[in-house]
Amino acid sequence: MSQQLKLGSLELSSPFILAPMESVSDCAYRRVCWDRGASLTWTEMIRARGLARNNKSTFDLIDTFDPEVLTGVQLMVANEKELAEALEKLEKPTPHFRNIRAIDLNFGCPSPEVIRIGAGPALLKRRGKLETIFKVLASWKKSTTLPIGAVGAKIRLGLNRLEQDRQVYLPIVELANEHLDYLVVHARHARQNSADKPTWSAIAEVKARAKIPIIANGDIVTREDWERVSRETGADGALIARGAIKSPWVFRGLRGEGSGLPASDAELDAAEAQYLSLADRYGSKLKFKEWHTEGFRRMRARLHGESEKGPALPVNEHMQ
Ligand SMILES: Cc1cc2nc3c(=O)[nH]c(=O)nc-3n(C[C@H](O)[C@H](O)[C@H](O)COP(=O)(O)O)c2cc1C
Repeated sequence: MSQQLKLGSLELSSPFILAPMESVSDCAYRRVCWDRGASLTWTEMIRARGLARNNKSTFDLIDTFDPEVLTGVQLMVANEKELAEALEKLEKPTPHFRNIRAIDLNFGCPSPEVIRIGAGPALLKRRGKLETIFKVLASWKKSTTLPIGAVGAKIRLGLNRLEQDRQVYLPIVELANEHLDYLVVHARHARQNSADKPTWSAIAEVKARAKIPIIANGDIVTREDWERVSRETGADGALIARGAIKSPWVFRGLRGEGSGLPASDAELDAAEAQYLSLADRYGSKLKFKEWHTEGFRRMRARLHGESEKGPALPVNEHMQ
């Protein structure tokens, strides 16, 4: 099992990637995870429409300030025009954008607001539209002045059970082979929530048709999970979301270096102090700081074998 992974021209030190997560994946937390073994990180989902319309709060979510931490921007697009306009805005020479190393397109967000505008998983079955979108991204990659190493997409298995049964995800692989550098497969359809068991066998079906690296996503937390998913599907890498909320050490565990959990109060204190000081330095939004303050409190409770109960983490539609 290889411990390295190449996406486009990006050389990753391991196959374990921090997922894009709304309210979680700020620049400071990405560094915390990077220092504990993540080999690539993503911003939270950014609405292409917001960039196209010069929406300041959308721009502020792009925070690739740290040049050492390999980071991509994840975009949510409804059509190719929006994408082209958003990509053009990223060319602006600002410190927020200078270190963008990859672009990912989100075809998995289950939010009704996203599906209503025909974006996210609503596009999975629209082969022609997807191809046009992929072509815009691939052609921008060739001409951009940003240091982009890889472009790709994150898909679910369909908008609903019916689409999954019809395997709408399979034709996407052919398109991705032609235009993209990798494909992330979140092995659930968009009506499923995180408690539903992912269908890893669909990742194997994708992998069998793929000429590009396939990144598995869904319930991968431990070294054993990774060994199983890579054996059962042939996936080249894994995207880690909730496991990294629970413990940024998860990446070390996946690499086979320790338990994946903080070993002591001192380790936990250092990680929290690192997060808070970087969040201040980079001006992280309050929603991120609140999330992680509560997240570290829960990690501490778990370390001491106490109940995690306390204020709920801010509600996030992806967690439904
Ligand atoms: C708090 C939270 C926020 C999320 N935000 C995003 C997002 O912005 N973009 C995205 O593609 N997926 C998002 N997701 C979904 C995850 O990237 C991932 O696909 C899903 O949680 C399954 O992976 P896991 O089993 O490792 O948690 C989010 C998930 C969580 C828990």
